[in-house]
Amino acid sequence: MTNQPKRYLITAALPYANGLKHIGHLAGAYLPADIYVRYLRAQKRDVAFICGSDEHGTAIPIQAMKEGTTPRAIIDKYHELIRENFAELGISFDIYHRTSEPLHHETAQEFFTSLNSRGELEVKESEQYYDEEAKTFLADRFIVGTCPVCGNPRAYGDQCENCGTSLSPEMLINPHSTLSGRPPVRKKTSHWYLPLDRHETFLREWILQDHTDDWRASVVGQCRSWIDGGLQPRAVTRDLDWGVKVPLPDAEGKVLYVWFDAPIGYISATRQWGINTGKDWEPYWNDKETKLVHFIGKDNIVFHCIIFPIMLKLHGNILPDNVPANEFVNLEGEKMSTSRGWKLEMQDYIDDFVRKENGGEPLVDSLRYYLTTISPETKDSEFTWKGFQDAVKSGPVDNFGNFVNRTFVLMHKLCNGKVPPLHTARMDEADKNMLETIGAAKKKVEQLLEEYRFREAQFEVMALSSAANGYMQKKEPWIVVKTLGETPENQQLIDNCLHICLQVTANLAILIHPFLPFTAKKMLHMMKVVEKMLDWENAGKINLLSVGYNLRAPELLFRKIEDSEVKAQIEKLQAAKAAKEAENAAVVAAEGANPQDSAAKPGAGPQSSKAASSTAGSGAKTETSAHTKEETPAKATIVYDDFARLDLRVGKILTAEKVEKADKLLKLLVDLGSEQRTIVSGIALHFTPEEIIGRQVVVVANLAPRKMRGIESNGMILMAEDKGGKLHFVNPDNTVEPGSGVS
Ligand code: 2FM
Ligand code: ZN
Repeated sequence: MTNQPKRYLITAALPYANGLKHIGHLAGAYLPADIYVRYLRAQKRDVAFICGSDEHGTAIPIQAMKEGTTPRAIIDKYHELIRENFAELGISFDIYHRTSEPLHHETAQEFFTSLNSRGELEVKESEQYYDEEAKTFLADRFIVGTCPVCGNPRAYGDQCENCGTSLSPEMLINPHSTLSGRPPVRKKTSHWYLPLDRHETFLREWILQDHTDDWRASVVGQCRSWIDGGLQPRAVTRDLDWGVKVPLPDAEGKVLYVWFDAPIGYISATRQWGINTGKDWEPYWNDKETKLVHFIGKDNIVFHCIIFPIMLKLHGNILPDNVPANEFVNLEGEKMSTSRGWKLEMQDYIDDFVRKENGGEPLVDSLRYYLTTISPETKDSEFTWKGFQDAVKSGPVDNFGNFVNRTFVLMHKLCNGKVPPLHTARMDEADKNMLETIGAAKKKVEQLLEEYRFREAQFEVMALSSAANGYMQKKEPWIVVKTLGETPENQQLIDNCLHICLQVTANLAILIHPFLPFTAKKMLHMMKVVEKMLDWENAGKINLLSVGYNLRAPELLFRKIEDSEVKAQIEKLQAAKAAKEAENAAVVAAEGANPQDSAAKPGAGPQSSKAASSTAGSGAKTETSAHTKEETPAKATIVYDDFARLDLRVGKILTAEKVEKADKLLKLLVDLGSEQRTIVSGIALHFTPEEIIGRQVVVVANLAPRKMRGIESNGMILMAEDKGGKLHFVNPDNTVEPGSGVS
């Protein structure tokens, strides 16, 4: 799009409402989108900034099982938390909608019907995995088994989270359903497909011809490899009970595939925004003069550049003008990962920095600043706490904040707290250059923002402040003041310097506003000017502050990040990782010293997400991923009879010893009243043998025997696991006779 668009529709990927989001997400989609939108608003352009929760897909019911609650409770909880996190970090959506809203279901169903009724979808029969006990088809995530690559016994049917390999259920060794524990069977089912292959010519022209210059090379590159790889029809429905129902009479038990309905969420959110504001929303999706831009992370490219555009084209909507997808942000040298505890959630940052101090906004802007300096626009980037500390010091504190502060302090000291006049006759080259630099900076920032080059754009704002620092240093008004006794006319030199520095300050407020909105607002307060001054058309002007105008005292714009804070955060990160490792190790240990062993036995390896039963034995259903515990489904509901089949008894540990060549195992002799049992338990990382001798425990006494490291284990000891991954015994609050029943 070359001419000025009539309106802008800016979307940021709808986050799954299945858990808190980390700063990688923030830097990837939401912060750049927010910078862009704030810039457009400052340009007084007509813009709608759309986001909301993606509340469908298997991720939601899986999280619900893990948290022992309902999908509805999960989406309500995380929608609200994520929404609040974004608001606190200054992400200024015009609407933060939800795909669970009836308006969205209606919009998505209409979309599907429209495509289907015009013959744009195909129905095909295929075989899918089915759980005969739970009487349901199984999404890939509901099937676990052993990874054929690394041996992780808890690999999912679509991916092994231990080694990252993409899998399909048939690749798993010993696949079994997370709902019933039974091996899934193949069963015929029909689904609707979007035949991507019919649209290859369109995609080649639209992306590989028309957008090779203005789209990011990485985005075009990914699209090219998808197209060259051969486009296949893609199923847009699923056999699932959580999602948007397929609006056809013969589609009982089927919902729209989450990646079909989620991007339509942008449309339903825009509709809701239209209802809220009384604006006509339709031109935002139908009028060619709308500029549509999707801000996303690189993992979403295929959906936003290939699948959704085909859907939009078929439905008669406009296509995105650009999809400035970002790469990923790593943390302290490692990929961020929830399952490994290696992450910095927005919530954590808010808790530790923003909410901890009165007026935590400067720390919001410090984070925004750093994330933009490491914006992963062309390659993966790296967040380090030391890098954060250094960047905040060298940019906001020592450069920007220092300049604004010095300007205000000197203006109060040397110019009576008023904007001094500009004595043009006394201006020299340095003064003129400084004024010209303002206009040049505006142009550069503007151009870079229009090209989605946010890192460089912010750099240019800081370069202006750096130039202004240099200018003030050269002019040295604090030295000139000492000459006033003999040369009173030198006050004019001081006036000129501070007049120019104040005009730079006003410009800095405008230019930094899209990046650091809280800082800009604070500067407005100091300058006693209204928000309108931040209009982009004011940038580059050198008469923004009127001569003689009284300004307020300076306020601190930023603060340094202390060494102790860096240290505490690194320790926190290490501790979270260690806790996760311990948790994962406990799970693996509980399943047997060798994961391949347990994989060889269908259903081997007991564990639940809340109470970790740490022992050897077989027969229990596998529920928890050894490597991704937090994504583990809980067990399916059972009837009382199922529970009654368990023989739970109180036991007393008589002896305990380490098992040779197995770090995690202890061999226990447990008194069960009428007999003594040998039980091998995966608790060696949590307890020494000495400290557990004599303890009461609860034993699953009728578990089939199982050999571990050559020792036959006859039962399982119940353990509870706290959030930090530490195991605790489950036992009666008073001493009871060994062998007493537990029910
Ligand atoms: O990757 C994700 O988090 C998806 N929920 C993004 C969806 S973007 C859009 F299509 F809604
Ligand atoms: Zn693997």
